Amino acid sequence: MTFNVAAGAYDRFMGRYSVLLSPQMADLAGVAAGQRILDVGCGPGSLTAELVARTGSENVAAVDPSTSFVDAASSRYPDVDVRQASAESLPFEDGRFDAALAQLVVHFMTDPVRGIGEMARVTRPDGVVAACVWDHAGGKGPLALFWDAARELDPSVADESQLPGVREGHLAELFGQAGLRDVRSTVLSADLEHPSFEAWWAPFEEGVGPAGAYLAGLAPERRAGLRERCRAALPDGPFTIIARAWAARGEV
Ligand SMILES: C[S@@+](CC[C@H](N)C(=O)[O-])C[C@H]1O[C@@H](n2cnc3c(N)ncnc32)[C@H](O)[C@@H]1O
Repeated sequence: MTFNVAAGAYDRFMGRYSVLLSPQMADLAGVAAGQRILDVGCGPGSLTAELVARTGSENVAAVDPSTSFVDAASSRYPDVDVRQASAESLPFEDGRFDAALAQLVVHFMTDPVRGIGEMARVTRPDGVVAACVWDHAGGKGPLALFWDAARELDPSVADESQLPGVREGHLAELFGQAGLRDVRSTVLSADLEHPSFEAWWAPFEEGVGPAGAYLAGLAPERRAGLRERCRAALPDGPFTIIARAWAARGEV
């Protein structure tokens, strides 16, 4: 389970980008004061924080299958209803929420249509379901440079470009298959400046997500080779990593 890691490691590796998506996702779903909102695949709570700021802890619920992330989100937001669950089987009654959001989660669902369908089930009629996933297939996700280097060293590497929703238009297709109507797509941006190569690289060594797990599974000399290849592709000083995500919203 590549997300069975400490919350701090996630924050340093992926949270540094996902926190920039959160206000854009809340805007996309039209989250406003007083609405009841569900955060699906909340992780340690990048999006949860934005939802709490907009509608109050008592109106936010969050789920994640990872024990360490559920513990972290519960302690960071003690008044939010945080539960251990997967999108494919949400522990809520029909129509409980005004909106259900999944930020960087659909590509990890074992059954994305069922997961999005569950998000629709727990959302009231005319409510909103919204999701985003990195553009891993188009090469504009934040891990593109890492996976390019890994592929150069091993063309058979299983990168994240084949996952559901990561190619243009696929997320909206999945929304349609899950029965949502008026589905609209957009692109979100979380481009981020990194002060140095070390600051960018160090979190890769913490074993988070498919990239962290891949690196951790390499023999030491292959790990060093991958690091050097990334090093050669980046400048010394501050540089910006492009981080674009496909997003979709639909109505129930
Ligand atoms: C990249 S993280 C995103 C976390 C958070 N939403 C954010 O924006 O930082 C992916 C999250 O999806 C969760 N996840 C994986 N499979 C899931 C599923 N089937 N249903 C719900 N969440 C899932 C993982 O445990 C992890 O917390």
